[in-house]
Amino acid sequence: MRILYLGDIVGENMISVLERHLPELKQEYKVNLVLANAENVTSGKGLSEKHYKQLKSLGIAGFSMGNHTFSKKEIFDYMDKPETTLCIPANIPCKVGKKVLYIKYNDKVIALVNMMGRVYQNTPLDDPFKTMDNLLESIKADHIIVDFHADATSEKKAFFYDFSGKVDAVLGSHTHTQTSDEMVYNNTCFITDMGMVGDYNSILGDDMDMVIERFRSGVFQPLKVAKTGVAVLGGVVLDLNGNKNTIERILKKYNY
Ligand SMILES: [Fe+2]
Ligand SMILES: [Fe+2]
Repeated sequence: MRILYLGDIVGENMISVLERHLPELKQEYKVNLVLANAENVTSGKGLSEKHYKQLKSLGIAGFSMGNHTFSKKEIFDYMDKPETTLCIPANIPCKVGKKVLYIKYNDKVIALVNMMGRVYQNTPLDDPFKTMDNLLESIKADHIIVDFHADATSEKKAFFYDFSGKVDAVLGSHTHTQTSDEMVYNNTCFITDMGMVGDYNSILGDDMDMVIERFRSGVFQPLKVAKTGVAVLGGVVLDLNGNKNTIERILKKYNY
């Protein structure tokens, strides 16, 4: 089974970019299933129900989130609906949201887990390692994919090696900058960060002038998503194939 996983989608402008280019990508890479990190879709923070539905209608089967999970309060209205194919970081110590998302494809079941690293994150989080230990006791699926949303490269790699052989993939997200260290160990695929689907001439998807001004002045002002007309699409293609899993990194540029 071939799965395309897209890194953090930044801004609603990227929905039309995906609408235009996802069909050709699916064809080029012979993809069966598309998954994506959607924590930055709606004005750069969070995911509105409208945008969730738009992305879903493009054929993206499952979504993971991150530190911006609750930035749009309306997520509480739809994330727990049985038909909603979205999971939230399993180690956020709240009682709401799906901690494991089961996706069916033909006769296979994929379990998608979203986990947050704790290094440099200033929100309350349970231990991602112990949380994963516990989840593995109850997950029943043909394939397990973890979106590990974190800052520290060491934490991502430690999680990967610790759970190698137990899950099919540990895919890093959150830094919005694709790394070139994709690898497979114990049949588990890994990349430190998948990159983003966002504006190319930006700072992690945000307007560069506003970010520069924030650094220069020290004045904290809300940032705006960049819109320069060039998009970058970062992600990976997983081929989950018995005991021969592979990972391929993809990075595309489009005008929009
Ligand atoms: Fe992000
Ligand atoms: Fe993030």
